Amino acid sequence: MRYRITLDESSIPAAWYNALADLSNPPAPVIHPGTGKPVGPGDLLPLFPMGLIEQEVSTQKFVPIPEDVRKRYALFRPTPLIRAVFLEQAIGTRSRIYYKYEGGNASGSHKLNTSIPQAYYNKQFGRKRIATETGAGQWGSAMAIAGSFFGIDVKVYMVKVSYQQKPYRRMLMETFGAKVVPSPSEDTGSGRATLAQRPDSPGSLGIAISEAVEDAAGREDTSYALGSVLNHVVLHQTVIGLEARKQMEIAGDYPDVVIGCHGGGSNFGGIALPFLPDKLAGGKRNPRLIAVEPASCPTLTKGVYTFDFGDTGKLTPIVKMYTLGHDFVPEGIHAGGLRYHGASPLVSQLLSEGLIEARAYPQLAVFSAAVAFARAEGLLPAPESAHAVHAAIEEAKKADAEGKEKVILFNLSGHGFFDMAAYDDFLSGKLADHEHSEEKVREALRNLPKVAM
Ligand SMILES: Cc1ncc(COP(=O)(O)O)c(C=O)c1O
Repeated sequence: MRYRITLDESSIPAAWYNALADLSNPPAPVIHPGTGKPVGPGDLLPLFPMGLIEQEVSTQKFVPIPEDVRKRYALFRPTPLIRAVFLEQAIGTRSRIYYKYEGGNASGSHKLNTSIPQAYYNKQFGRKRIATETGAGQWGSAMAIAGSFFGIDVKVYMVKVSYQQKPYRRMLMETFGAKVVPSPSEDTGSGRATLAQRPDSPGSLGIAISEAVEDAAGREDTSYALGSVLNHVVLHQTVIGLEARKQMEIAGDYPDVVIGCHGGGSNFGGIALPFLPDKLAGGKRNPRLIAVEPASCPTLTKGVYTFDFGDTGKLTPIVKMYTLGHDFVPEGIHAGGLRYHGASPLVSQLLSEGLIEARAYPQLAVFSAAVAFARAEGLLPAPESAHAVHAAIEEAKKADAEGKEKVILFNLSGHGFFDMAAYDDFLSGKLADHEHSEEKVREALRNLPKVAM
């Protein structure tokens, strides 16, 4: 039996898998926030380079990965697939648990899989600067690193609660040459407006996105970059699942369940979507695909599937997605990368069609699972990834209770070495659970945009 299944460089995928090509219903059009009409490529050009806009709307099933991107991928890909034997022993399950580990690169998470192509296409298009937001700091780190690879200046609006909780993330971004400010900041109109309303705002991804979009829209040399949600980001992340498929084959197993944590949908989509064609084929291979989110930000499990802005300041295009409302500000939980009111339109559509499942967990249970995993496997999960760990353990225990033996695959999207304050809070009993009430959901949904579709 192999515990650790590695591939060599020649197995880095040559193309990303585009699930849009396999959907029987086309996704709803993206709406311009000013005109209320579907956006065209020209509307997006102030924010994104043409290469990424083309990928955003592409229905080509496999999109070739440029050689310069593959060369950078080779610094850390293919990533290992690990059979979690010691976790299996620790929880006494009969099921087989595998995890794909995406934390073994300088950014510490899967986010480098998309920041590299994003920097590449911006460079190609002649953009000199990128403005972006970061929740927990992983995306900002990944964008800073990719910016340094391709000689692009990066400005990061970092959600204030994370800026305060995770100073070493800021230092990492600065080491790679990025400029980092806490969001809401005084640097943009939307930041100043938020501060005027609520000077002690902890910030949110929705607010930080407004700031970055405003920054990029106001300068010709600057693009906006998003670390999740958009089709092209999910597309780039499919390298995870494409490799995992090969590795599961080498292991001689096929997953009954594929799990990823869910913030905006990119690492979940990345590991799960390459298994979608099997599901759609309706044969024997029919894995359950499960997205896991925090109970305090239950976008997929308590949100509504409707048109909404991607940001708090209402500057982004309006997309159809599961949402808790664009002005929803989640509790300052430690899984900062999962504090987003919306979701990938692609993942949302699959959920609405019943092709994937979603579930939400409170943070104390998630941290217990993270510690159990760390002690068994010797690897400290990011608080975000720990949601997937918890779901994998639950699935194994459920199978045991039913007298079944399952093959469970999950994505360990990142490591938690910059999250020691979170672990410290957990171990010293300072963490609390925050359930998101139905009333708060209704309140935040009052301000949804009206879209005539
Ligand atoms: C380690 C890690 N996992 C997961 C996420 C959630 O993002 P996504 O849903 O796009 O994968 C983040 C976001 O910052 C992250 O840093």
